[in-house]
Amino acid sequence: MLSDAPRRQLAGPIAALIERLPKVELHVHLEGTLEPELAYELAARNGIPMPYASAAEMRRAAMEFTSLQSFLDVYYAACAALVTRADFRDLTLAYLERANADGVRHVEPFFDPQTHTDRGVAIDDVIGGILDGLAEGERRYGITSGLIMSFLRHLPPEAADVTLSAAEPWLDRLVAVGLDSSEVGFPPEPFAGTFARARSLGLKAVAHAGEEGEAELVARTLDALAVSRVDHGVRAAEDPALVRRLAECGVTLTACPNSNVRLRVFPTMDRSPIKRLLDAGVAVTVNSDDPAYFGGYIGDNYRAIAAALGLTAAELGRLAANAINGSFASAERKRELFDELALALAGGE
Ligand code: HPA
Ligand code: ZN
Repeated sequence: MLSDAPRRQLAGPIAALIERLPKVELHVHLEGTLEPELAYELAARNGIPMPYASAAEMRRAAMEFTSLQSFLDVYYAACAALVTRADFRDLTLAYLERANADGVRHVEPFFDPQTHTDRGVAIDDVIGGILDGLAEGERRYGITSGLIMSFLRHLPPEAADVTLSAAEPWLDRLVAVGLDSSEVGFPPEPFAGTFARARSLGLKAVAHAGEEGEAELVARTLDALAVSRVDHGVRAAEDPALVRRLAECGVTLTACPNSNVRLRVFPTMDRSPIKRLLDAGVAVTVNSDDPAYFGGYIGDNYRAIAAALGLTAAELGRLAANAINGSFASAERKRELFDELALALAGGE
């Protein structure tokens, strides 16, 4: 199963509340929603060889990660299946169908353009296809969205800058830039110039930090990149002064419980600091990261953390409210989502 965490039974009313919550997903990589079956279907459509003999083999490999890097190796290899604009649309729509089943009402997904442009895929096909999928998903399911373009930190900062320039025709369709991939050995400071330029072009900024990297990297990310949210950020819990800083400045942390256990950031779910961060007044949220690889979508993450930490209805409500508040949705959309949350917490439909 998902983890070796001691499994506590979820009380019926808590499970029902999690079902009802209007969910806002702030940390999901579209490439990380590529289920093995879709990867193999697209690879066959495009005549692309895949690194495993079958979808089942790929699924088995996805059970055996021991670190962020061992995951990223499989994740980047599977991306070879994504070639055409239609592929990116299909990927996005497949995610939104699952998200809708989980009660997601608004999503701000990441994509990694460099993973595709470095293979010769046109950035217009990547962004255009994703936007096609997001628009169709809003028509079908009413899920609103804001798209985040992430830079790969294991590549040179100059490459991030080139990518920002290449995306210029699309910037008014993006909401933010992000920073992901291998954290240890790839600090935030070299990306400060590109992030400043992105902000001057009207984009918000978010960045991964404090996943495999220590608490100090969360502080350095706040200082160097002026981010509105820290993706993961959970290792900040190791530094009480930093926890106070996060509570005071109100920066949102986008935690991903199943991902953290799968990639061994924590040995078991009950070691997650999500409740401690919440108690300390930090704006922490629950998200899925790479759900095709980590054993479940956002609802599974809510259920796993609620069971392991014995979260109350009020605490689940605060997690959901933090996600609405920390999103880049318009004030009007946030009001709608808060109204839906109030109904869910009152027990209504
Ligand atoms: N961390 C860093 N980079 C990533 C991740 C992650 O969890 N998922 C996809 N790219
Ligand atoms: Zn991530």
